Amino acid sequence: ARHGGGPGSLPRPTIIGHRGASGYRPEHTFGSYQLALDLGADIVEAGDLVPTKDGHLVCRHEPEIGGTTDVADHPEFAGRKKTKLLDGVSTTGWFTEDFTLAELKTLRAVERIPANRPHNTLYDGRWEIPTFEEVLRWQDEQTRRRGKQVWIYPELKHPTYFRKQGLPLEERVAKLLRKYRKDRRTSPVILQSFEPTSVQRLHRLVDNPLVVLLSSAGSRPWDFVESGDPRTVADLVKPAGLREIASYARGIGPTLDLVIPRDAQGKLTRPTTLVSDAHKVGLILHPYTMRNENPFLPADFRRGTDADAYGDVFGAYKAYFATGIDGV
Ligand code: G3P
Ligand code: CA
Repeated sequence: ARHGGGPGSLPRPTIIGHRGASGYRPEHTFGSYQLALDLGADIVEAGDLVPTKDGHLVCRHEPEIGGTTDVADHPEFAGRKKTKLLDGVSTTGWFTEDFTLAELKTLRAVERIPANRPHNTLYDGRWEIPTFEEVLRWQDEQTRRRGKQVWIYPELKHPTYFRKQGLPLEERVAKLLRKYRKDRRTSPVILQSFEPTSVQRLHRLVDNPLVVLLSSAGSRPWDFVESGDPRTVADLVKPAGLREIASYARGIGPTLDLVIPRDAQGKLTRPTTLVSDAHKVGLILHPYTMRNENPFLPADFRRGTDADAYGDVFGAYKAYFATGIDGV
């Protein structure tokens, strides 16, 4: 109730299945999403949204799909391999925006980090790439079947990059949310993006709970880099920056070290005032990167797989819950 409708009705701390139960199944597949709910997640990050050439939204961690699908085993797509500048980073591989949805549907998902999650490779080749529209229908089906409202937490990936290519993500997301009547403030959908201007655009198009993702303090959101806005994440987490975010978003998703910084040995230090500063202006707070693929995590957080967090969540993550965060 403290945060009004929508996310205010979720249990606290809220448990968010990052790309599904990605420690146990290849991420962004219906196998992974389904298992996250079975393990007790309150919300599923379904998905990271990227576009196809013909304007559909699909769920992949990144538009480059060389490591998350079997595209390299398809000789018919060998000529599609490219090198592109993705948010300033030279990236080589196959990109969803160069494929139609029908072409992408011929591919199968594979484990992205087999070294960390060798058991997940048992499921390589089992699932198709989900579309956002399928996710919206799956959410309703699961809600009916489980007799409990299922929430989703899609992230819009690289919105400025795609807008410049004539593939605007926000309008497509808004259109689908309207189609499935999930564009209201109380709808069980939280939209997130690392680009503040993308969240502002969503704020104008839909009325859902919106979250601005914040990476490490010294970094700048890519839309700021493109527009010449000199502010860094360190500026955004100051009280004035948080007040501005609260004018168009319902929450923030800061990286771990913005909540509890580490010392030189990687040990947790005293929490910053970010949690209370955010709460003062009415923002919910869902930090991320508490997962074993993050090489900078303290040892405590690195044991097990992502999904072990479900069993271990009140143990290893206790220090975070003690800060008063709203979910993880
Ligand atoms: O919700 C935060 C998190 O999903 C953002 O990072 O790289 O896992 O998409 P990434
Ligand atoms: Ca994400």
